Order: sequence, then structure tokens, then C-alpha cells
Amino acid sequence: MKVLVVGSGGREHALAWKIAASPRVERVLAAPGSAGMALQADCFPEVQVSDCDGLLELARRESVDLVVIGPENPLAEGVADRLREAGLAVFGPSAAAARLEGSKAFAKDFMVRHGIPTAAYAAFDSLEPALAYVREQGGACVVKADGLAAGKGVAMCATPAEAEAALREMMGERRFGDAGDRVVVEEWMQGEEASYYAITDGERIVTLAAAQDHKRALDGDEGENTGGMGAYSPAPVVTPQVEKQVLESIVYPTIRGMAADGCPYVGVLYVGLMIDSAGNPRVVEFNVRFGDPETQPLMARMEGDLVPLLDGAARGALDTRHEVGWGDAAVCVVLASGGYPRAFEKGRVIAGLAADGGPADGDSQVVVFHAGTRRGEDGAFETSGGRVLGVTAWGATVEEARDRAYRAVSRIGFEGVQYRRDIASRALGR
Ligand code: AMP
Ligand code: GLY
Repeated sequence: MKVLVVGSGGREHALAWKIAASPRVERVLAAPGSAGMALQADCFPEVQVSDCDGLLELARRESVDLVVIGPENPLAEGVADRLREAGLAVFGPSAAAARLEGSKAFAKDFMVRHGIPTAAYAAFDSLEPALAYVREQGGACVVKADGLAAGKGVAMCATPAEAEAALREMMGERRFGDAGDRVVVEEWMQGEEASYYAITDGERIVTLAAAQDHKRALDGDEGENTGGMGAYSPAPVVTPQVEKQVLESIVYPTIRGMAADGCPYVGVLYVGLMIDSAGNPRVVEFNVRFGDPETQPLMARMEGDLVPLLDGAARGALDTRHEVGWGDAAVCVVLASGGYPRAFEKGRVIAGLAADGGPADGDSQVVVFHAGTRRGEDGAFETSGGRVLGVTAWGATVEEARDRAYRAVSRIGFEGVQYRRDIASRALGR
């Protein structure tokens, strides 16, 4: 098979790496791809993720059998629909189904109609009624821009005054552009977060696993929100009992509900969960693609072949008997550029990587996924983004995987490198 991966981040590198390891796959292509993905894939940097015509032309020219779309934006824009209409097998939801992530109001309304547990909410199209609502409610709440805002359109507000300020910023000053023309105001839920993944062809479902990421820049969950500073899988907060509830009260009703509403969901469903102290899960958000950086430990942990799942889902014939097979634990530590998530410099030479982009010491249970690298003039890898590398290791326990990842991290470096020292510590403190 020839498989085209759409995207260029650490998540897409992890997917390309896993897909390339499949005995069914003879060639992996990537659009636009990255210096890291080029280790496993033929990259086509001239084709961007939202370029339907370019993707279609590439897929036809290279006789691609399966297209796997990594990021949410092209999905929300209908790239999967266009490619599917042209007869390609595509892993990723239609634009209609991608509203589960692309519109918070759509997702909330969907959950209420289908009895899926989530925070209480109200949606607003104009500022004044929204202001009146948060004043009337008093107390803490969460204010969210309706549309895609690259994870930034969420304000956790301890007081009504903070909520008013957030509303004015989103709706009045339009800080997130059109994404803030509608806002959702939610109850602030308490508990521990985790994410859960399942693959579906719209009807049949194969469950994957749970993971946890670390969104804040600094140790102890301090500092600013980032695109993710590390992740691990499994997430011990998702006990077998919690997982059963996640499936019965969230995953199955969501897939059934989308089909019943006339927009069957094809792809991977990422459920962002809040699990209270009694072990009851509620939905924080849906995402319509794999998580980043959660995919890095998920792919490292997965022992079976991912490709039959991607291909089966894309063709509407998911084989639910396929054995995914999971190793015990995996941990990913993100190495970021100094200053990230604010301004940072690019072009720092990365020391400690082997020619194949992996760790120079050759630990066979470590893989280095590239999120923001490029090749310098002499061919060496250098930094080119905020998040640079996802150093990912696996082992018999989370602790073993964590130790192995940090051992590898200690041998890789570039000027200004910044990373958290406490990835997965929550899983170990139990
Ligand atoms: P979202 O983009 O909706 O996933 O929100 C980003 C982050 O904000 C989540 O991962 C949570 O940490 C937090 N968050 C969002 N909504 C809520 C809520 N209703 N209660 C508590 N935390 C929330
Ligand atoms: N790690 C969070 C996300 O992928 O949205």
C-alpha cells in the first residue's frame, strides 16, 4: 500500500513512523511533511494541508491507496469530503462531523441531545446577553470561543469580572476573529483530565487507549498554556471501571448519535475527559483527530499494526477483531525552543541526534519524533519551531519509560532548550 499522511507536526511524524512499520505498506508519502517525516516518508513540501487540488493531484499521480489527515483545520474545511468525492480512501471525518471540534456550540448541543455527560453551558451570539448571563450566574466559569482557535480560545474565569473581560476580548475586540463571534459559557468542572481515543468507520468502533498531556510550560503545571510539553499513556486515572463508563456513556452514544443525525463519524475520536473524584467522566471537549503530543506515546506503545484500522475505517469496513496490542507504557518529553510559547529563535543546531534522526546512543526503546526541525546547510538538524522534538520511550512501567526518555533527553541538546522535568509524575504519584 501507499499511504499519504497530511500534516507536518510531531503527531504526523509519529503516525508516519507507525505506518511505515506496517508490513502492508510499501511507501509513505507526506504533504507537506517535515525534516523528521522525511526519515520515513517522501515529502511533498509544495502541497499544504488545505490544498485540496494539490492533495488530489499528488494522490492520483503517486497512486496513493489511503490518505490520513493529521490536523483539524483541513478536516473542518472539508478536505476529507473533497478527496472522498474524488474516490480516495480517506481517514478523517467530513466537515459536518468535524463540527464536533470546530464548533463548541455544536458539540454542546449534540451532547445535550444525546444525553452525553458534559459541563452545563449556555451559548451566545452577542455580547450583552452573555455579560448579563455571567453576572447573573455569579461564581467561576469557563468562557470559550466557538470556533477553532488553536487551543487558545478558552478562558478559565474565577470571577464574573474575569468572565466579563474574557467576553469583551472575544466578542468585543474579536481577539480570535470569527471564532469568537459566538461564545459558550460553561460550568468550571473539577477533577483530573485525561484523553481517550477510539477509531470508527461511522458504525463499528475499535477502542485505542487513554493518555494524558501536559499543557503548561513549566514544572508543576505552572506557566503559560502551550501546544503540549509532554504526554504519557496509559493514564492511570482511567481505570478499567472509568474506561467502561467512558465507552458506555460517551464513546458509543457519540458515534451512534452522529450516525443518527446524518453525519456519520469516520476517523479517530479524541475525547477530552474530566474525571471527578468519584470516577465519573464528563466531556471537556471533542477533537476530531489524534492528539499532539499524545499520539507520540500512543504510537510508541502500540504493538500491533495501525494500518488495518486506518484503512478499514476509511473504507467503511473496520474489522473490530483486529488486535491492536499494547505495550505497557510510553512517555514523551517535548524539547522546546527557549521562550516558547512566546517568541523564540530558530536555527539552533541540535546535538545528539543520529543520522536517522533518532537518539545517538541507539536505545532501541526510544524514538525521537520531530515537531519543528529542519536540515541546515551541512545536513545537520536544527530547530525551526517552538516545539522541536518529542523524545519518546517505552517500557514495562510508566516509571521505566519516563527514566529512559529522560536519559535520552540528557544526551540531546541545543542552545536555549527548554523542557519539563516532571512529565508523567502524576502517574507515578499514585
Ligand atoms: P478545550 O479547548 O475545550 O479543551 O479547553 C482547553 C482546556 O481548558 C481543557 O483541557 C481544560 O483544561 C480546560 N477546560 C475547558 N473547559 C473546562 C471546563 N468546563 N471545566 C474545567 N476545565 C475546562
Ligand atoms: N494535546 C491536546 C490536543 O491535541 O489538542
